[in-house]
Amino acid sequence: MKKPSLSLNDRGRIYLDHNATTPPLQSVVDQLVTWAHEWGNPSSIHWSGRAPKTRIRDARSAIAKMLGCHPLEVIFTSGGSESNNYVIKGFYELHNTSERNEYITTEVEHPSVKKSFDDIEARGARVYRLKVDRSGQIDMATYSKLLSSKTALVSIMYANNETGSVFPVAEMCVQAHRVGAKFHTDAVQALGKVPLDISKLEVDYASFAAHKLYSLRGTGVLFCKKGGQLKSLISGGAQERARRAGTENTLSIASFGHVAALLPEIISEKNIQMKTLRDNMEAQILNKISDVQLTGSGVDRLPNTSSLLIEGIDGESLLMNLDIEGVSVSTGAACSSGSPEPSPVLLAMGLSRAEAQKSLRVSLGWSTTQAEIDHFVEILVKVVTRLRSFHNTEKLNV
Ligand SMILES: Cc1ncc(COP(=O)(O)O)c(C=O)c1O
Repeated sequence: MKKPSLSLNDRGRIYLDHNATTPPLQSVVDQLVTWAHEWGNPSSIHWSGRAPKTRIRDARSAIAKMLGCHPLEVIFTSGGSESNNYVIKGFYELHNTSERNEYITTEVEHPSVKKSFDDIEARGARVYRLKVDRSGQIDMATYSKLLSSKTALVSIMYANNETGSVFPVAEMCVQAHRVGAKFHTDAVQALGKVPLDISKLEVDYASFAAHKLYSLRGTGVLFCKKGGQLKSLISGGAQERARRAGTENTLSIASFGHVAALLPEIISEKNIQMKTLRDNMEAQILNKISDVQLTGSGVDRLPNTSSLLIEGIDGESLLMNLDIEGVSVSTGAACSSGSPEPSPVLLAMGLSRAEAQKSLRVSLGWSTTQAEIDHFVEILVKVVTRLRSFHNTEKLNV
């Protein structure tokens, strides 16, 4: 198969925020006009519906193959947030009168999971939120103790978007099934960064998002195991076998299918490449900048993510200064950037507010190069030195 051409940072900027979103592959961009010309409604029986319908069918098959599941277990949604809302709220609506009314999640989930649980809790569900330690991991003994014949659903993310920590989802899923509970994982950040095989994982539900995998925004996938119950939260047409109404986003679905078909061939090469660059970047930073800690290192974590705590700087000022220098990174979840509040994930890991405000997330992607990493470190050293000297001058002037 022809190697995919990657979309590079053609505006001379260094993009290191791939956990927020990824640039579409060049081969996705190249096919946009073709896909856009297939503008018919996939539900139409006449000629205009045939091409988009075929695209969706092919994308569904490619995504199912990539995930290791049956195509009918793939439900298209609008994104990761919708998939998460769908499972948690839908599950509660189906089961709220049963004896099983307990739910288990963690304190470091994405807001779409966290707020869905807040919602069902306000409606009467009993929700347990597992704490994490300083490395971002949960205590398995506490988890095992919480599981009981009353547990309805466990929802644990596969990998954390801010620190990259990977949770032992396979083991947690086995334990949940032993008490008869269902298991959902938000695998939005894991897809394409760790080998994922749903058939081996045996989860009942899993969430994914196209834009985190070099495809176009606007499509999510909800994996629902054959026979699994799902309440449709959107009333309307019979799309997705009446499980999720609404005319499909064919363009974005086609792009996700395209990348899914390429993934098995390139995933290990890309992940080794990202991990090598990430480890090299961390070593350079620790060597060249004093008083830096890596948050969530030393445990199983994504190969592309680095969470840094840099003493003597403010994360937001650092981010803005790096942006001026042409580098895009993040201080935490993309949805909360711009907000002065420190990251709830870092606070849940036991960092103080002051520490969390000194944090920086760097997330590499498939097109990141050694030259970009070297240049980024150079800029980081320069900006941190400058900000620390301002900080010290301010302190002296107080
Ligand atoms: C772990 C995780 N879950 C869910 C989402 C939400 O996905 P979307 O932006 O597609 O709604 C994100 C996005 O950052 C995420 O990182």
